Amino acid sequence: MTDANTAKRAVVLGGVTGMLGQALVNVLNKAGWEVVAQSRDDVDVTTCSALDEYLAGHAPDVVFNAIAYTAVDLAEDEKDKACELNKKLPASLGRISKKQGFKLVHYSTDFAFDGRKQMPYVETDETNPLCVYGKSKLDGEKALLATEAPGALILRTAWLFGPGRKNFVQTILNLAKDRDSLNVVHDQIGSPTYTPDLARYSLELVDAGGEGIYHMVNSGQASWCELAAEAVHLAGLSCAVRAIPSSEYPQKAHRPPYSVLSTEAFTNKTGTTPRAWVQALREYVFKDLGAVE
Ligand SMILES: NC(=O)c1ccc[n+]([C@@H]2O[C@H](COP(=O)([O-])OP(=O)(O)OC[C@H]3O[C@@H](n4cnc5c(N)ncnc54)[C@H](OP(=O)(O)O)[C@@H]3O)[C@@H](O)[C@H]2O)c1
Repeated sequence: MTDANTAKRAVVLGGVTGMLGQALVNVLNKAGWEVVAQSRDDVDVTTCSALDEYLAGHAPDVVFNAIAYTAVDLAEDEKDKACELNKKLPASLGRISKKQGFKLVHYSTDFAFDGRKQMPYVETDETNPLCVYGKSKLDGEKALLATEAPGALILRTAWLFGPGRKNFVQTILNLAKDRDSLNVVHDQIGSPTYTPDLARYSLELVDAGGEGIYHMVNSGQASWCELAAEAVHLAGLSCAVRAIPSSEYPQKAHRPPYSVLSTEAFTNKTGTTPRAWVQALREYVFKDLGAVE
């Protein structure tokens, strides 16, 4: 908790409508920060001078960038749009951070990896994105680091679910209400992550003085099928969840078959071990979505 004399000011880009952005706004407010939640109506983030002026007007200590082009399949056809938000925006923010002196916290993705590893990926593992979205996000990491913005923090996360915006878990539960069975991909394994937890851990790492690249996800791993099955079970729905291979659910963008992220570096820095995704999912299903326990 911060008191009024030491209250820090944050701007959360994407804080009004983004899934992670909204969680960051909640967590920062609860921690006593002064928070400005940004939406599209406030500033055109693709115009560097406008963004510079907007941020200067709020004089933040920290800027959290939760804006991204997140439509993974559509990005295959909209490379320029993905690049504008996922590569150019972090680069602009890095330059502005250097000029104005705020700390920048930026988010990236497990899709930076190709999934050929069989053990959780650490920050120094070789990257090799398989799709336009993953490449645009990795290019954003590199472009931001190249600005040498002091203290900039890049958090690679994965498989987000949480309140405030449509996500995989919510989609599955909506479908499961009306169907007897659902087929879900079982040969892609990742790190399901609850946005309120990600927001809390982000703040902990900022408070601990983290900079550079960190992986930040809930503990444990799951396939999409396991995540769906657990959510359906928790919600008390009778829909059967059947495992299928990716080949039976073709998607435009290639995804890594394995993209579990190791959070050891985060734990070493903060002393916190992220809670298990299953525990976080319970909170989402019971508290946020209001399923009866
Ligand atoms: N979702 C996942 O599973 C996942 C996995 C790994 C990494 N990540 C990363 O985590 C971060 C947060 O993701 P998220 O799922 O919370 O994102 P999200 O819910 O899709 O929110 C994206 C935000 O960006 C804003 N935005 C999009 N295009 C814009 C534009 N042209 N101008 C201004 N604002 C624009 C959106 O505003 P509107 O609502 O107005 O469109 C929204 O506020 C991103 O960096 C993402 O790459 C996400």
